This record gives sequence, C-alpha cells and structure tokens, in this order.
Amino acid sequence: MDRREFLKNSAALTAATVVAPGMLAADKTASKDGAQTPDAAETAPLIASAPMLQNYASTSMGVAFAVSDMANGYVLLSERPDMADARKVKCGGYRVTDMNDKVQQIRLTGLKPATRYYYRIGADRISYQGGYKMKILGTEEDPRTYSFVTAGKDAEGHFCVINDTHARFATFDLLTDKIAALAPSCVIWNGDTCNNEEQIEGQIRNFLAPPIARKDYASEIPYLFAPGNHDSRGMANRHIERVWMWRQPEERSSRDWDLGRNFAVRMGDIALIGLDTAEDKQDTNPIFAGLFNSSAYREAQVAWLADALKRKEIATAPFLVAFCHIPLFDDDPTHNPGDVAPADYDPQYSADYAYWQRTCAQLWTPLLEKAKCQLIVTAHMHIYRYDPPTATRKWAQLVGGGPRLDEGPDRFPTVIEGRVETTGPGKKGRKLHITVHNMLTGTVQDEFRFSAR
Ligand SMILES: [Fe+2]
Ligand SMILES: [Fe+2]
Repeated sequence: MDRREFLKNSAALTAATVVAPGMLAADKTASKDGAQTPDAAETAPLIASAPMLQNYASTSMGVAFAVSDMANGYVLLSERPDMADARKVKCGGYRVTDMNDKVQQIRLTGLKPATRYYYRIGADRISYQGGYKMKILGTEEDPRTYSFVTAGKDAEGHFCVINDTHARFATFDLLTDKIAALAPSCVIWNGDTCNNEEQIEGQIRNFLAPPIARKDYASEIPYLFAPGNHDSRGMANRHIERVWMWRQPEERSSRDWDLGRNFAVRMGDIALIGLDTAEDKQDTNPIFAGLFNSSAYREAQVAWLADALKRKEIATAPFLVAFCHIPLFDDDPTHNPGDVAPADYDPQYSADYAYWQRTCAQLWTPLLEKAKCQLIVTAHMHIYRYDPPTATRKWAQLVGGGPRLDEGPDRFPTVIEGRVETTGPGKKGRKLHITVHNMLTGTVQDEFRFSAR
C-alpha cells in the first residue's frame, strides 16, 4: 500500500474512538416510559475530527481537533512508535486547562528540531455543574497513532502552497489528494480559507472536519497559515484563534506579542517567511464601520520582519521564500493598489478593493530584497500568474490560482510545490525547484529553478 492509500484508508479509522469501560452507559438513565433520557450528544463520539497540525516550527507544534461535548483534550507524545514513554500534554496553558465543547487545542513545546514524533489524541468527557461540581464521565481516544516531523535545518526542504480555497470542498478534495501524493514537509495555506464565518461551526468545518475524503489531511503534514482578507470577515473570524491557534508566544519578542500569525521557519535549505497583508479595503472604508485595524498591523510587521531576517537560521538559509495573501506587485495600471483613501474608490481602477498591496510592498519588500529573497508567493486574484524578476525587482512573484473548477481553461486552482534539488557540491549545487500543479487539468503548469542567495 503506498503512502497515499495508507492515509486514505486510515482516515476511516479516525471515526472510531476508544471508550473507557462503563463511562457512557453508567451516566445514561431511562425515563419512566422506558425512553432514553436526553443528551443525544452523549452518545456521539466525543472526538469529532481527526487532529490538525498547526503552526509548523522547529521546537513546537500545535494540535487541534473538534469535540462534540464538554471536554478536556490532550495529546500523548513520544519519539517511539510504540508510544511506550509517551508524555501527556493537556489543552490550554497555565492555571486552568481549556475545557470547552467545540475545539481542543494542545501546544506541544520543547521539541527537538527535524525530529519525528508519534502522537495520539484523547479527551476526557466532562460534566461541569459549577465551581465545585465537576467530574470526568469517561475518556475517549482516537485509536490511531499519528506522526509528524518538526522543522529545522536538517528537515527536508519541501513545501506546498494552497490558497483561496473559499470553503469549496470539491476543490479542496483535489488539493488535499495532491498534497498527500507529494508528501511535503509542510503546507502553507495562503489565505482566503473561507468567505466569511459567523459561527465557530463553520470554522470547524473549514479546518478540522472538512467534508472531504481525507479527514486526516493535516494530521501528519503540518500547516502554516498566512491569512487572507476573507479570514477576518464574520463574527467568528474575529476570533479565528479559537480554531487555528496563535503561534507560540516565545517564538517572537515581547514587542511583537500581538503578531501571532507571522512565521519565520527554517526547513532544510529554505527559510519560510509568513506575512499578513490583512484586509483588501481601507480601515476608513465606511463598509467596515471602523472595525478593522489593518494599517497599524502592516506597519508592526516591519520590525518583526527586520528581526526575523537577521535570525541566524533564517539569514544562513540558501533560499528565502516569503508568503502573503495579497500580491506585492502588479504592473497593470488599472489594478487597485489598495491605498486609495478613504473608501477604495477611484475611477482609474477596475475595482474598489486591493488587487495588490502597494503599502505592504513599500514596507516589506526593501527588507526582503536586501536579504536576497528569491520568491514571494501570493494569492487573492483567483487567477494564476508568474511575475519574473526584473532589473529593478530582484524577486519573482507567483500568484496562486482560484477555488473554482468551472471557469474555463485560464482559471484553475493550483498547488505550488517547492523542493530543494541537489545537483552538485556546495550552495551552487543546490536549486529551489518550483513546480506549479494545475489542478483543473492535473498537469504541470510551470516549473522554475532558483539559485541559492
Ligand atoms: Fe480569494
Ligand atoms: Fe483575497
């Protein structure tokens, strides 16, 4: 059985759970007329999704999964496949755990770089009736042992990028199949995972329990997240961290405490930089009623980026690739550059929202250019594009495709794959090989090779 089949088959197993003896039946009573008393939820498996690996890093990993009832989740973690010396890590942080009835988030910290870990997920079903009245009704564990490999200099330099999935699950099915076949070290989800989400259930569907064949699409391949403009829209998306946790606080300085989405990760010969271009409309646009704060956010990322690029493991990587949702370059003069005050409207542009982000380009690209960034991967336009480097712009830009399969041959979803190839000794013998997979035709759309910086 190849890896792809293995993943697909074992996904079915995640539906099953281990139920501690006597736990549910003991708490169920029959009413006088013999009917089962309420709480149908109690009969449903407590663990309601496969685990999702979030925020790929060299010394930490996030594990998130959905639950159907009040629960206190945990991860059993080991370097041994037989889990013999597993340690238990509970959800939440210090003081209290994060008991809740929707999503369990467990942060695994103190990990070794470029190391394979084995893990299982479980949760205690909790009856909570007050400050002194709480008990464990039972414990359920997903019977499958999963594994992942942390990032780091010795990890394999191999990534995939998806973007603008917009909760279109027929497309997401194709993308996750392709990713399973390619088996990269990590995936960068480059924004617009949805349209807008008012309820947490929609976010759970988008990330943790999508209606696709591969329920375990992110259980062994870790994800990084560069949010798009749509990922902040809707009441639930104002707190997307309830489903996709923030990055570990100790992985950034105290000055950058609120920059929980940016990432700077070394993966083999590649340094991966994640930036957030935020909304595609001005903070002053009346449509948003003063409820967004993108301008300050974009500026705050400048100091973070400057420091991240100086970090040894980032500065010494032969390849530097940045990811953000809205393009940082566009040479079409009719395309709105996202800085039209106060409400984005200007008759010279074809749309009243950002087609590209001139402000972010001015803030960030001088730093990236000085660091000899070879490639910036963006999204947002829903049409694949490659902008080769020029004499004045040393970096290339790739714009990933859109979510639809019914818009003709020019518009197609993409999986952008990056992999380091070694063809000879030293840095000169290494190339970053980019393959753009056209997910409408199932063919390779483009290939590019970048030299080490
Ligand atoms: Fe989009
Ligand atoms: Fe977008």
